[in-house]
Amino acid sequence: MQINDLNKQESNVSSKKFLEQMIDGILVLEYPSGVIKNANDSIFFFLGIPRSAIIGKNFWELSVFAKHINIHELYKQFLQKKLLAMKNVILSLEAKNDMVVNIYGELHTFECHDSLIFLGFENKSYVNFLQNKLKQFHLNEDKLLNEKFQFLINTAIAIDSQNAKHQLNVSKLAVEIAKELNLDTLAIHRIMMSSLVHDIGKISIPKEILNKSTALRIDEILLIKNHVQTSYDILIRLLFPLDIAKVVLQHHERLDGSGYPHRLFKSEICQEAKILMVADTVESMRHSRPYRPDFNSDISLHQLEVDQYSKLPSDIVNVCTNLFRSKKFSFEHSLH
Ligand SMILES: [Fe+2]
Ligand SMILES: [Fe+2]
Repeated sequence: MQINDLNKQESNVSSKKFLEQMIDGILVLEYPSGVIKNANDSIFFFLGIPRSAIIGKNFWELSVFAKHINIHELYKQFLQKKLLAMKNVILSLEAKNDMVVNIYGELHTFECHDSLIFLGFENKSYVNFLQNKLKQFHLNEDKLLNEKFQFLINTAIAIDSQNAKHQLNVSKLAVEIAKELNLDTLAIHRIMMSSLVHDIGKISIPKEILNKSTALRIDEILLIKNHVQTSYDILIRLLFPLDIAKVVLQHHERLDGSGYPHRLFKSEICQEAKILMVADTVESMRHSRPYRPDFNSDISLHQLEVDQYSKLPSDIVNVCTNLFRSKKFSFEHSLH
């Protein structure tokens, strides 16, 4: 069979396979002789040998296999079992350093033609290199994100320590609720992060309004409500992950659509925001108001269950009240 015929055969019958394996090096061997009939571009990148130097040779004659003592023997086993899989094989390249590869062999039989063996070389060194790069990228991303968080938390402490304390307490409670609900680590991380900065937008509101003991005017109420959008805008401008900003944006929504800023309904609000809204409501009840009883009483928890019935998710409220009543959660001392 001519090489051109082979190329045609490959493109017709196995083009999909070739495309899928483009990153891997592919040697096409004649069955059962093991003579190299063709190779893809990656194989030359892998081995650093020109095409003319390998076509027509038995593949185990290639110098890169010279130090691999069993390659010919393994090929014989492959011919018997029709399967070849070698993991973490070190190939000694002529011009480059050693390369760690996984080698796999597959036998393909084509109509009207001889069978061919596709011998694949998966470059483990390259995969490891990419994985390490990706890991490094994530580490740097995490470091940058943590620095931004620290900046926002420090800003909150400097401008309004009461608000900073509120955010910390909300975060403690929200994380405990999330753990009780068996949320996965990523979701718990999102809840912790979003809780810690959920009211950062309040830095734009004058303290006189935030701490006003008399009834608020309508324009003051609107200004306070706007803290949600401001929090969101700050996070977006600082390039925080969108999923964290979204939880912050939804923390004053309510299941019955009575919340703000977008009057979302139950199914439109994400789970993390539902947890945050419960923790936020409970923590806010601690701050004495003339019309509110002290939080550390059953009345407060009962009020939470009754008054917020249609507004807050009852399953999360139940978990929350159980944390206080049965598991003795307190804002001063975390459970874990
Ligand atoms: Fe808020
Ligand atoms: Fe809050």
